[in-house]
Amino acid sequence: MPEAFGERDLALDDATLGELAGFHHADAVDSTQDWALRSPLPARGAAVFVADRQSAGRGRRGRAWQTDPEGALAFTVLRRFALPPMRLAPLGPAVGVAVARALHDAGASGLRLKWPNDLVVDDAKLAGLLIEARGEAVAIGIGLNLAVDAVPGVEQPWTDLRRAGVADVARPRILGVVLRALLPALAEFEREGFAAFAEDWARFDALAGRPVRVLAGERVEDGVAIGIDAGGGLRVRHADGDRVHHAGEVSVRVAA
Ligand code: BTN
Repeated sequence: MPEAFGERDLALDDATLGELAGFHHADAVDSTQDWALRSPLPARGAAVFVADRQSAGRGRRGRAWQTDPEGALAFTVLRRFALPPMRLAPLGPAVGVAVARALHDAGASGLRLKWPNDLVVDDAKLAGLLIEARGEAVAIGIGLNLAVDAVPGVEQPWTDLRRAGVADVARPRILGVVLRALLPALAEFEREGFAAFAEDWARFDALAGRPVRVLAGERVEDGVAIGIDAGGGLRVRHADGDRVHHAGEVSVRVAA
């Protein structure tokens, strides 16, 4: 059985507590995303929903997300963003930067961000982010491998935080580490936009300078990734010129 924990076990600091509107822990839910989106939206600050088990965890592009109750962390942050869609678009990359900074500072080595929403080490997946907006309500879901023996049914290469060099991967500790970076970062994103995160995206970028294959339905376009733009789109240098690709419209592979 995973150990039970509550807000007091997270060792949050005053800046983070000032942004925290509520903390909810459950042994089992369908999906922390759905739990959060069914719940009242805080007028200000962020509510956190964490569960040991998800029976219907969801990933990007309609995929299922399996959570190992002992070895992984699954949580959702629900927050109001009074921003037009264009300014909200780079939220995923900004969240990625906040989580990467936190895990890097906690001792994880070799961390990179793979556009749009993955944290990887040596191209193996460490964590995935799922951002879903319903009007002003935005659910930010994070699935993070802490110390995993196997991820059933997942073919993609994966890794975990312990393999990345973090010795103490207790769930309350790592959730506290992430929330202390993430909740203030969300307020910063709302105030200042992606500019406050762009430099660190470039530092953690897993794709920049690498040949990539961009898939949009039947269309396949090869090129070289050259970073992301202010709207969070992937910039790719193709033979016929540079183009920006948007999350949700394409998927991207590193070309062999
Ligand atoms: C992806 O890489 O496809 C995104 C995975 C996001 C998984 C998290 S786990 C917590 C939250 N609840 C869900 O059902 N999904 C997200």
